[in-house]
Amino acid sequence: MTSARLSLDPAFVVAPVSRKTFGTFVEHLGRCVYGGIHDPGHPTADEDGFRGDVLQYVRDLGISTVRYPGGNFVSGYRWEDGIGPVEDRPARKDLAWHSTEPNTVGIDEFMRWTEKAGVEPMMAVNLGTRGVQEAIDLLDYTNGEGGSFHSDLRKKNGTEKPYGIKMWCLGNEMDGPWQIGHKTAKEYGRLAAETARAMRLIDPDLTLVACGSSGAEMPTFGTWEREVLEEAYDEVDLISMHAYYWEKDGDLGSFLASGVQMDAFIDDLVASVDHVRATKKATKRINISFDEWNVWYLDGEASKNPETEWPVAPVLLEDHYSVADAVVVGGLLISLLRHSDRVVSASLAQLVNVIAPIMTETGGRSWKQTTYHPFAQASRFAQGNVLRVELQSPTYETAKHGDVPVIDSVATHDPASGDVAVFAVNRSQTESVTIDIDTRSFGPRGAELVEATTLRHDDPYFTVTADTADQVAPEVNDATSWDDTVLKVVLPPLSWNVVRLTAT
Ligand code: AHR
Repeated sequence: MTSARLSLDPAFVVAPVSRKTFGTFVEHLGRCVYGGIHDPGHPTADEDGFRGDVLQYVRDLGISTVRYPGGNFVSGYRWEDGIGPVEDRPARKDLAWHSTEPNTVGIDEFMRWTEKAGVEPMMAVNLGTRGVQEAIDLLDYTNGEGGSFHSDLRKKNGTEKPYGIKMWCLGNEMDGPWQIGHKTAKEYGRLAAETARAMRLIDPDLTLVACGSSGAEMPTFGTWEREVLEEAYDEVDLISMHAYYWEKDGDLGSFLASGVQMDAFIDDLVASVDHVRATKKATKRINISFDEWNVWYLDGEASKNPETEWPVAPVLLEDHYSVADAVVVGGLLISLLRHSDRVVSASLAQLVNVIAPIMTETGGRSWKQTTYHPFAQASRFAQGNVLRVELQSPTYETAKHGDVPVIDSVATHDPASGDVAVFAVNRSQTESVTIDIDTRSFGPRGAELVEATTLRHDDPYFTVTADTADQVAPEVNDATSWDDTVLKVVLPPLSWNVVRLTAT
């Protein structure tokens, strides 16, 4: 059996774990909202029409923020359509997803849902078909104390206290030619700066996110960020990045190493952003909101939109995830955590039904996808500081990324509780790997094992349904032993693993 070695040292701190790393995304797209979080006819629906079963899954997932209402959807959205008496709200054509938006759920309903779910909203404004005025109107509606038209309107609609929404996205994927209201970097940069300036006049205490690139493959990647930030550097706090990964042409080896691609994307983006910082001689540092990431079979049937009709809540982007997909999601979480010094916020895209960890039948059953588990474990066990780990691993060759490590890993340590968590993926399709976790830096007796768990399946393509969801879940891994202060753990082929230790 091959082996890998991992040295932990509590002094090698990348950054404190940012809870905002564990955000997700709810877009008015397909059945994410209607039939997903909102389903008044469902037996578990509450007085507001929110599904109780989904709310419970959401709470258990340990989510921090939820981005809303898009996505591509936001670039044509009129937020005023979704307020006031539901029976008076207009239905509109949603050009982004060739659907009809009934506007049954709007900002007030969503905010009620976030309270019930215990999550923080991350609101996006429409900078596609709209601009500064509509953004400040929305901000005044959500955050205004009263005494102005929009803040009084919120009160009239039943919410006395301001929502106090702090995180705002200045548009969505404005670099993408598919975006309604797509702009050049300079045009968008100016609009983002103007919008940010105006929003801060209403509420200076906001975290504002400018749109970065929609993917590393975008032809403008790098120059887009530079040109946008030349206009908006002083006005914004974070820049976004989006990336989706999927297995192409049966090349599982490359797909399993998607984290390598994410690492490079982040490093390249940081270089572009810091280049602007240097040319501006700025002291302020712009960090990253990786506010869309996931596995998404972009070329799969589930993503095809039948553009003949304008359905309400059609089945769209409903990918069903395999065990291999879950291992990739685990690898992407490792990459995000490893970059915690610059990636301070991230959103798994999306939350329910649409490329999501939670699936539902409208009016019926709900279940956890395979990808639910790595996210839930990472959000729960990543506490304290992210540690830079010293990892020696065998490598394997991929068509796409060259030689890559078989094992990838990151660790966290909470100095207050002594809790340590090691997150590791084994990307080998055939070989178990014994990982030697060296804990001697925690003191002469090292650390103690709390529990090791593994998520795997004999068939990497095993995909769960409502009937089989309980067949894939993290299970206790007993293949552990100590050699002095070194813990040996056998990581099965194609697996996501969490090793929890205590170091007091
Ligand atoms: O998450 C699905 C879509 O992917 C979003 O609407 C868009 O921002 C991205 O292209």
